[in-house]
Amino acid sequence: MLEAVVLAAGQGTRMASQQPKVLHSILGKPMIEYVLKALPEEVEKIWIVTGYKASEVESVVNHPKVSFVRQSPQKGTADAVKAALPNLSAKHVFVVSGDMPLVRKDTLDQMLSFHFSNALSLTFLVAELVHPQGYGRVLKEQEKIFIVEESELSAEQEKVSLANVGFYIFSKDILESALFELSPHYPKDEYYLTDVIGWASDRGYKVDMWKLKDPTEAIGVNTREDLAEAIEIMRNRKTQELMEKGVTLISPSTLYVEIDVEIESDTLIYPWVFLQGETSIGKGCTIYPGVRIVNSTLEDRVQIFDNSLIEEAYIEKEARIGPMAHLRPGTHIKEKASIGNFVEVKKSTIGKASKANHLSYIGDATVGDKVNIGAGTITCNYDGVKKHPTFIGDEAFIGSNCELVAPVSIGAFALIGAGTTVVKDVPENALALSRAPQTIIQKRGVKYFIAKKKQKCVE
Ligand code: UD1
Ligand code: MG
Repeated sequence: MLEAVVLAAGQGTRMASQQPKVLHSILGKPMIEYVLKALPEEVEKIWIVTGYKASEVESVVNHPKVSFVRQSPQKGTADAVKAALPNLSAKHVFVVSGDMPLVRKDTLDQMLSFHFSNALSLTFLVAELVHPQGYGRVLKEQEKIFIVEESELSAEQEKVSLANVGFYIFSKDILESALFELSPHYPKDEYYLTDVIGWASDRGYKVDMWKLKDPTEAIGVNTREDLAEAIEIMRNRKTQELMEKGVTLISPSTLYVEIDVEIESDTLIYPWVFLQGETSIGKGCTIYPGVRIVNSTLEDRVQIFDNSLIEEAYIEKEARIGPMAHLRPGTHIKEKASIGNFVEVKKSTIGKASKANHLSYIGDATVGDKVNIGAGTITCNYDGVKKHPTFIGDEAFIGSNCELVAPVSIGAFALIGAGTTVVKDVPENALALSRAPQTIIQKRGVKYFIAKKKQKCVE
């Protein structure tokens, strides 16, 4: 049996944040979730060590294998593992840092099989880095391996480029002894887990290391700058993966795409697009520049024109949205429907092939199929206290600049004249019209222009 301990109790002082470090988001997910996902399947139970704002971390992580252990006060990485020790029952323990989101699952799988196939007592992950500053360095003297933390390196040791990544597999008996024999380090009196490497090596345990093939996996998040770097690397991995699946990205470096977004092949994405949360985009869609889509589903061949915002919406195949449209939560746009320039839709269903192409607000409405909603039409869904629904039947024609005062229902094939304020239900096939009668005063226009000219002469 194999268990894992995830270190997540530290304050993350260098982040200068009120939020625990491991909850900072990378492409829409807290960084600790990446670490949990990378753990090998063989890990049966995961103990997360929490401390700083423990209940915040505990309320965010929801994973079937996870239990929490508290470390208080936080006296270093070795002390954190010691807090979890009484709960451990497995013979081998994977210890990982919660602030290392870029390590891949493949890497940890390989490290684990290396550990077991060589019957090792301690395996730890290392990386050969061009800029190893900030990492503990791995040193070898005769047959002994040990780690020296950055703050304690001699000038000679500073040249060492082999860095400790912060992932370890220990046989439990090592932890049971070593964690009680380590000395604290100046100036914070912290106990370093890295000292266990030297402890075990000195005592003749079989200690070895597994080296990262891709050194970018070694980037740990200690500062905001590290966080930005980690986000960028993860974003690059994601855009790479999308292109491999057949998605065309005109400018991969300007696409912000979160980790759970799914996109099918032959979809074309223009520059400066933002795709967030649980968004899924079908085949052959086109997303034009400046679009942001959050927690939404697009079926095949949907087109989203420039600068539209789509939030928690469902868009059926071949619909067209935008430019400059806003679909708010609870919107369902059916097949081939069209939502055009400066149209806002909230908590509404727009039927098949229906159109609202210009300057409308449609809220709390159910719109049938092949309905035409003219420019400037709005549903008056809010009476200042409550929201009310609007129903529009199939093939109804709503002229421009109408106000539909909800609750109201317009029957199928009804016709609403331009400028009408609809306050009563309109039956099927009927015409509804409410307009002030137009007055014509002959030659009144001439009088106006003469007055205007005179005014100009005075000025
Ligand atoms: C650690 C390693 C260093 C390695 C680096 C890789 C030690 C002493 N040093 O340094 O060799 O190169 O990771 O990124 O281990 N934590 C606790 N309780 C504590 C202190 C820390 O749970 O009392 C947790 C933190 O929340 C964090 C992890 O342990 O998730 C690592 O701590 P951090 O302070 O980031 O260590 P580094 O300075 O990065
Ligand atoms: Mg760290």
